[in-house]
Amino acid sequence: MSVGKIESADIKEVVEVHHQSFRGYINTCIGKNYTFGFFRWFIGYSDSVTLKVSSDNGVVGYVVGAKIGYNAELNKHLKPLAIKGVLLNLSVLFHKNFLFILKSRIKALLSFSKKTSSQVKDPDGKGLSLVGIGILPSEAGKGYGKDLMKAFEEKAIELGYDYLRLSVYKSNERAMALYSKQGWRSVETETPILYFYKEFKNNHVFLTDLGG
Ligand SMILES: CC(C)(COP(=O)(O)OP(=O)(O)OC[C@H]1O[C@@H](n2cnc3c(N)ncnc32)[C@H](O)[C@@H]1OP(=O)(O)O)[C@@H](O)C(=O)NCCC(=O)NCCS
Repeated sequence: MSVGKIESADIKEVVEVHHQSFRGYINTCIGKNYTFGFFRWFIGYSDSVTLKVSSDNGVVGYVVGAKIGYNAELNKHLKPLAIKGVLLNLSVLFHKNFLFILKSRIKALLSFSKKTSSQVKDPDGKGLSLVGIGILPSEAGKGYGKDLMKAFEEKAIELGYDYLRLSVYKSNERAMALYSKQGWRSVETETPILYFYKEFKNNHVFLTDLGG
């Protein structure tokens, strides 16, 4: 097992891992073009952390994250790919989470236009968001997820971040168990999403709205 940075040459394998580990999720239902765009953006973004875990057979998992406030740029980059992905895969309009995601996107757009961007939620610029983690289903339960989480935290500390955050569907018991075991704490919301965070310094005041 080895953990390393995701390079451009790894994208194809990482996209495959993502599509297998997130099978049935909206972001995979809209096709691989969108996923390629997603990982290319993280690799090219200066304030990102991108890690892969490999076995003898190649890449078996990945984790990507970016400094809180990254959303606006990522969304701008992904918008045309998302629209094209939906048009080419119209069945996604009937996906159980489609309306929820659409509403969150509209809410984010409105709050952005009111200048209450995620900078406000991270005034010190010391927060890193874990945006996605996935392990090949055939390799799940073997400790790769734990190894990636640890490597992600170490990288965050090395880069000078004070805390980490992520969001997860409340139905995703396996992922929630992983985060809790790694010492992350959760924040309840009234939506299908739960926020988790981990502080390296104790001085941050956490609001229930950790979006971004
Ligand atoms: C969630 C995920 C990243 C966990 O990775 P993993 O390599 O399977 O996890 P690990 O083997 O390191 O196990 C870590 C912990 O997860 C939990 N876990 C692992 N397998 C589990 C299972 N089958 N059922 C419930 N919990 C499980 C356990 O708490 C485990 O700790 P333990 O071994 O000390 O008991 C992986 O299963 C995955 O890719 N899932 C699909 C994509 C996803 O949901 N990503 C997270 C949302 S952003």
